[in-house]
Amino acid sequence: MPSISRIVLSALAAASVAVADCTFSATSTIQNAGDATALASCSTVSGSIAIATGTTDDIALSGVKVLNGNLIANTNNNMKRISASDLEQLNGEMNLKELTRLVAVDFPKLKKIDSIKWESLPNLQTIGFTASVESAKKVDIQNTAVRSLEGINIQQAQTVKIANNQYINQISMQLGNVSTALDFSDNNKAVKVELPNLIWAANLTFRFCGSVSLPSLAKLNGSLGLINNGFETFSAPNLTEVGEALAVVGNEQLNNLTFPLLKKITDNLQIANNSKLTDIEIDSLESIGGAFDISGNMTTVETPKLNNVKGAFNLQSSENITEACNFYQPLKDKKLILGKYLCKGKLVDPSVAGTTPKEQGGSKASAASTLSATNGALGLAAMAAVFLL
Ligand SMILES: *[C@@H]1O[C@H](CO)[C@@H](O)[C@H](O)[C@H]1NC(C)=O
Ligand SMILES: *[C@@H]1O[C@H](CO)[C@@H](O)[C@H](O)[C@H]1NC(C)=O
Ligand SMILES: *[C@@H]1O[C@H](CO)[C@@H](O)[C@H](O)[C@H]1NC(C)=O
Ligand SMILES: *[C@@H]1O[C@H](CO)[C@@H](O)[C@H](O)[C@H]1NC(C)=O
Ligand SMILES: *[C@@H]1O[C@H](CO)[C@@H](O)[C@H](O)[C@H]1NC(C)=O
Ligand SMILES: *[C@@H]1O[C@H](CO)[C@@H](O)[C@H](O)[C@H]1NC(C)=O
Ligand SMILES: *[C@@H]1O[C@H](CO)[C@@H](O)[C@H](O)[C@H]1NC(C)=O
Ligand SMILES: *[C@@H]1O[C@H](CO)[C@@H](O)[C@H](O)[C@H]1NC(C)=O
Repeated sequence: MPSISRIVLSALAAASVAVADCTFSATSTIQNAGDATALASCSTVSGSIAIATGTTDDIALSGVKVLNGNLIANTNNNMKRISASDLEQLNGEMNLKELTRLVAVDFPKLKKIDSIKWESLPNLQTIGFTASVESAKKVDIQNTAVRSLEGINIQQAQTVKIANNQYINQISMQLGNVSTALDFSDNNKAVKVELPNLIWAANLTFRFCGSVSLPSLAKLNGSLGLINNGFETFSAPNLTEVGEALAVVGNEQLNNLTFPLLKKITDNLQIANNSKLTDIEIDSLESIGGAFDISGNMTTVETPKLNNVKGAFNLQSSENITEACNFYQPLKDKKLILGKYLCKGKLVDPSVAGTTPKEQGGSKASAASTLSATNGALGLAAMAAVFLL
């Protein structure tokens, strides 16, 4: 393999000016600091750059302002620093994976990048994007030691996944919309999530978050999953429509859930395993395109405007919910609830649709449907079209 220096020198020989556009047809591999320095006379590099697995030097790509290609460093146990002091645009993916000693990623002028994909960077604590990246289509940061997402402040994205970063305890972004999916899961359990400007998104998943604030969220084209979070309160004050499923599952401390404007859920509604949630009132809800599946320790369940459930109906509680059942039974009788129907209180083990509940001191009630329980919103969305008739 020719060394990168030789490739660059020949590219430069072809160019007549000192500040050059360097185009490489194949991925250029950097073996050491010298190879990186050789690129300094290329203000634009077209072609991907990979840092070799055996590289032990710090790699500094100074001089390069625009990279039209990917920057890749995978599986390296020695390299400590990667920097690009002049890079403003990376029109490709920054793919950093399994870099066990990496402590610094310094890109002080970077503003625009297509995709950030970081995985297994156990010693990386800060994101050295001093100028703040303002544009990125995809951000995927998993298993790192980063403390905050400072340095990434994007307004719109296709996908954002921040998962298994055990030190992140604050996520605040200016995001206005997310066209495919946003997933914040298994970071620090106290993580405070604030998305003040998020107006619409496709799939949203929050798992093991300490708090989640979505004051502007108006519409979801996909699903919302709130799974195993630690918060006592969750509110989506401006949300009117969920394009797929809504799942609120396993939030042990949750005692106040509010969706004041929510009118329509296109697939399933599932609320389960929230031990302290005794009162569920979704005042504006009119229609559910999949199943209505609520189980737990509720004393009150009120959806006064509901007049259309296309899938199964399952409401099971450990408490007396006679009043709620007195509201839903007529909807079933009028065929405004189309699927299999079960509404029962005073149960020993209230559970999701498809389970056979046991009455307190009594006999078994009949199973509601064959809707299978899944432990997550998006699986729930996938099995959504539960038109059990
Ligand atoms: C997405 O959000 C950005 C930033 O708020 C906004 O400029 C853009 O118009 C939005 N796009 C759509 C399709 O809503
Ligand atoms: C809530 O929605 C209304 C109507 O669309 C809008 O005027 C208002 O600004 C939204 N509130 C927030 C906090 O975004
Ligand atoms: C999602 O809904 C928003 C708001 O209605 C719309 O602007 C956007 O185009 C939709 N996005 C997709 C991917 O369907
Ligand atoms: C949401 O995620 C589910 C499951 O991965 C997928 O089937 C669905 O298409 C996604 N919805 C959107 C709008 O992207
Ligand atoms: C529940 O939360 C909503 C919105 O955050 C708040 O307005 C309301 O006062 C809370 N209710 C109780 C009983 O704490
Ligand atoms: C009801 O509350 C009890 C006691 O807190 C808890 O053990 C049980 O899991 C709860 N049931 C449901 C379905 O959330
Ligand atoms: C349940 O509540 C209803 C009315 O709210 C009441 O009439 C009924 O006696 C209660 N049932 C039990 C078993 O406590
Ligand atoms: C609720 O908790 C029980 C017991 O941990 C579990 O078996 C069940 O799958 C959970 N339900 C959902 C919908 O996740």
